[in-house]
Amino acid sequence: MLLSRSFRKREIRASRRDGRREILPGYYSQHLAAERLKACYDLAPPRTKQYLEAEISHVLGKVSSEHVVLEMGCGYGRIIDRLKGAVKAVAGIDTSSESLLMARDFLGSAASIRLARMNAVCLGFHDRVFDVTLCLQNGISAFAVDKARLFQEAIRATKPGGLVLFSSYSARFWPHRLEWFEAQSAHGLIGPIDYERTKDGQIVCKDGFSATTLSAGDFQSLAAQAGQVPTIVEVDGSSLFCEMRVK
Ligand SMILES: C[S@@+](CC[C@H](N)C(=O)[O-])C[C@H]1O[C@@H](n2cnc3c(N)ncnc32)[C@H](O)[C@@H]1O
Repeated sequence: MLLSRSFRKREIRASRRDGRREILPGYYSQHLAAERLKACYDLAPPRTKQYLEAEISHVLGKVSSEHVVLEMGCGYGRIIDRLKGAVKAVAGIDTSSESLLMARDFLGSAASIRLARMNAVCLGFHDRVFDVTLCLQNGISAFAVDKARLFQEAIRATKPGGLVLFSSYSARFWPHRLEWFEAQSAHGLIGPIDYERTKDGQIVCKDGFSATTLSAGDFQSLAAQAGQVPTIVEVDGSSLFCEMRVK
C-alpha cells in the first residue's frame, strides 16, 4: 500500500540561507490553487507553452510502461494527465486540497492514479517505492521548503537504480519567464511585480509571491549533500534538469 504512513502536519518555514527571497509558505494553497493555477498555464505565451511542452516531452522520454511514478506538487494534474497513459501507475501529491480535488475530476478515477495531500518534505510513503520521482516546473522553488531535505525525501522514496528528476529554469529563458509572470500579474493571479527585486533569476511580487531559480551549481551541491551524482541537462533552452540515478 503506497499511502501507509500518516501525513504529519507541519509548518515548513521558507529557507532564506542563500539570501534569496523565498515564496511565503502556503501561497499556492491560498492564492494559486485549482482554477487559478490552471489559468496561469492557460495564459502562457507561445514560447512558454513550448517550454512547458518540452519539459513534459523530456520526462516522457525517461519513463516506461513498467514504472510507478511519483509527482511531487502535482497541482490540478496537468503533468499526470500526460504521464498516465505512459506508465504503470502514478501518484500525485500536493499541499493544496483544492488543486487535488480538481485533479481528481480532471484525471478521473483510474486505479493506476493515486492522489494525496502531503507535503513533499514529509511524504507518507515507505522507502524505495517509486521507479521515478518528479519535481517539475520549478517546484523546488514553489514548495518553500528546505531544499536539501526535499532532495533527501525524494531520494528516500525512490528505488535504488530509480530516477529522481528536478527541474528549474535555464538562465537563457529569463525574458520569456518574466513575460509569463507579467501576464499572470496583469490577470491578478499573482501580485504586482516588484521590479527592484526582480532580477538574477528571481521574480518577486509585492504580495509575497516569489520564484527563484536553481543553477547547475545549486543542483550539483544539493545532489552531493544527498550523496548522489547528478546529470545536469538543459532542455529547449528553457528548463534545467537535475537527474539522479539513485545509488
Ligand atoms: C508551480 S505549481 C506546479 C504544479 C504542477 N507540477 C504543474 O506543473 O502543473 C507548484 C505546486 O506545488 C504545490 N506545493 C506547494 N508547496 C508544496 C509542498 N511543500 N509539497 C507539495 N506540494 C506543494 C502547489 O500547491 C502547486 O500545486
